Amino acid sequence: MSLQLLKRFQKISATKKDGITRLGLTEWEDKAHAAAASVFSRHRRVKHVRDQAGNSFLINGDGKGPYLVMGSHLDTIPNGGWLDGALGVAGAIAAMQRVLRIDRDARIAVAIWADEEGYRFGNGLWGSRAFAGEVRDDELLRLRDSEGTSLADLLAERGLQKKPRRSRETGELEAKFVYKPPLEIAVYAEAHIEQGSRLIRAGKRVGLVTHVSGIRRWRVESVGETNHAGTTPMRERRDALVPIAGMVGRLPQLVRGVENGVITCGVIGAEPGVANVIPDRAWAIIEHRAPTERDQDEIARRLKELVATTGPRAPGVGLDLTSISAVRPTPMSEEVTARLEEVCRKLNVESMRMESMAAHDAMAVARVAPAGLFFIPSLKGVSHRPDEDSRKEDIKLAGEILFNWALAELERVP
Ligand code: GLV
Ligand code: MN
Ligand code: MN
Repeated sequence: MSLQLLKRFQKISATKKDGITRLGLTEWEDKAHAAAASVFSRHRRVKHVRDQAGNSFLINGDGKGPYLVMGSHLDTIPNGGWLDGALGVAGAIAAMQRVLRIDRDARIAVAIWADEEGYRFGNGLWGSRAFAGEVRDDELLRLRDSEGTSLADLLAERGLQKKPRRSRETGELEAKFVYKPPLEIAVYAEAHIEQGSRLIRAGKRVGLVTHVSGIRRWRVESVGETNHAGTTPMRERRDALVPIAGMVGRLPQLVRGVENGVITCGVIGAEPGVANVIPDRAWAIIEHRAPTERDQDEIARRLKELVATTGPRAPGVGLDLTSISAVRPTPMSEEVTARLEEVCRKLNVESMRMESMAAHDAMAVARVAPAGLFFIPSLKGVSHRPDEDSRKEDIKLAGEILFNWALAELERVP
């Protein structure tokens, strides 16, 4: 594993302090993709291919037929850590370099998935879902950032997709997502930091992921009426934030009794956002995760009920719940997991099987190819914050496992 490359990625950030800000579908993500591709700039056989979703592929050879692919993402959340995503990309590149020294014709590629975090539009796994054929046309106009820009507008601005057009018949804006995968994946593996503390507590160096929890995200929005915060009597107010804030306080109850169910409101906002003005518009983004679709359905049912019963308690305020995105719980390939396990055994490294409550691009890839995912321990068990870290020897181990897995797997890929 090239620590040097990881350090290079670390320097590519829109902010100089407090971690790394390299948001998806921005010039900062582009710069990181270019830095990754530059590793092979003197390698005549490896081409950098960018697709219509903004993903990058570093492909050895002609790109025809099924390929062994390793990868992850290079975008971060605002003020994120240096290893979330970058570890898997740097590890994949280092492994591919070593494989090519042994077999220069190997049908091997690195995938760098765009906008895994989904920060701007609230939808995760953007690039890998596009590759897996899971992006629906309606996502492009339905999803808007805090400024009201749609995903369709952004993709057009970045030259990835055509601009949305107005339909002659209905007058409505229309956007169609056009995507052709640039290569076929025969088998896929991704290395990632654990982002939790189970490995450290169990004293193991590698976690082999058998299953990843699903994620559903919702936007709840309320509309009331703005007025003076001093002169408007309490009984005459239509304060849009009150029902939203009340709901958020009750969210933890919605996952009671659901094994490994979690629910979070990480975004809340109110307008006009002035201390002495009653808000007339408020919103929150809520996400919930659970290992089974049945449990996700149950949490969603409870959430809808909470919204339905909170509305009438806020007279004159309309409350609306809309779905932003849904990623189904995903089992990882048993075959790939067993082969990663075998690699750990050969390297004399203690591993354990585990579930992941964090989402990863490997989930989307698993819909179209056998895919494996493994973790190395996160120091202090923390992630999505600037002090996220792992031990150097574990970072190196991630690359070592990918390299050994790729060598073994290439014997099987036709
Ligand atoms: C990915 O970072 C996630 O939200 O699980
Ligand atoms: Mn992340
Ligand atoms: Mn990640």
